Amino acid sequence: MEFKEVVGTRRSIRFFKPWQPVERQKIQKILEASNRSSRSMNADYAKAIVVRRQDLPEETLEALRNPTTTADLDLAPVYIFWYLDTNYPQGGADRLKELVENHVLTPSHGWSKAYVDEFLWPQVLKPIADNQMAVMFMGTIEVGQAIANALLAAVDEGLGSCLHAFTAPDKVKDLFHVPDSWIPIWLQLLGYPAEEMAAGGQRPRRPLSNNYFEGSADTPWEEDLEVTESLKKDKLIQDPGPFPHREMEVKMLSRMFGLPE
Ligand SMILES: Cc1cc2nc3c(=O)[nH]c(=O)nc-3n(C[C@H](O)[C@H](O)[C@H](O)COP(=O)(O)O)c2cc1C
Repeated sequence: MEFKEVVGTRRSIRFFKPWQPVERQKIQKILEASNRSSRSMNADYAKAIVVRRQDLPEETLEALRNPTTTADLDLAPVYIFWYLDTNYPQGGADRLKELVENHVLTPSHGWSKAYVDEFLWPQVLKPIADNQMAVMFMGTIEVGQAIANALLAAVDEGLGSCLHAFTAPDKVKDLFHVPDSWIPIWLQLLGYPAEEMAAGGQRPRRPLSNNYFEGSADTPWEEDLEVTESLKKDKLIQDPGPFPHREMEVKMLSRMFGLPE
């Protein structure tokens, strides 16, 4: 699938085919896409544990339920538990110097091994590493980037995916041997969609001018309508929901899975 179509087709899928396993190869592709996400200090912020629902003990499945809706937990055959490893700053100076060696960070932009050792690490990055709030702030963004790649890669593999609150992480900590430095972030559900990939149409979004600005915060971004049309052709912008048959689609799926209509 082309990039723009992947972005346009991604949406949260909540009806999965519980009977169709996800190929391990596809999961590897998703993890690799995630591993390619941009990250400051070239650090390993995100950690993910892939588990097949069928391998989880009944009491763990029960503990993962929460006051939010949980039918998608019952349907998704694969769970990816996302964590932030708060140890990510460790080795930061060495990783940056590796980038200097690889001519990624270059003298043209002020980089050198001495700059890392004598200024950047002790004056900027070490103080961040020693500040728990800063570690959390930076880390959650980086894990978010890793998850975003994983969500898009799932679409590219013809799979559905949805993020879900990661409830009761203490109940899986021992089961998965999770190190103390890992903080639970989100649970990603993965599987073949039982609903159409279009899932009733593209989600409502406010126009660009609501959220994006040019030059100053009081000058909304003005769309070039030709560009907007080209994005429709490339399927980044798709038909908005709800499709006329969406209500019936949901009703029939709910009936099949024994869920409330
Ligand atoms: C960080 C994050 C957490 C989310 N948590 C949940 C959740 O717990 N339960 C759920 O049904 N959907 C969850 N969602 C999905 C959103 O509700 C979803 O973004 C919304 O339905 C429409 O956007 P989308 O279909 O384009 O993803 C989450 C999404 C994000 C990005």
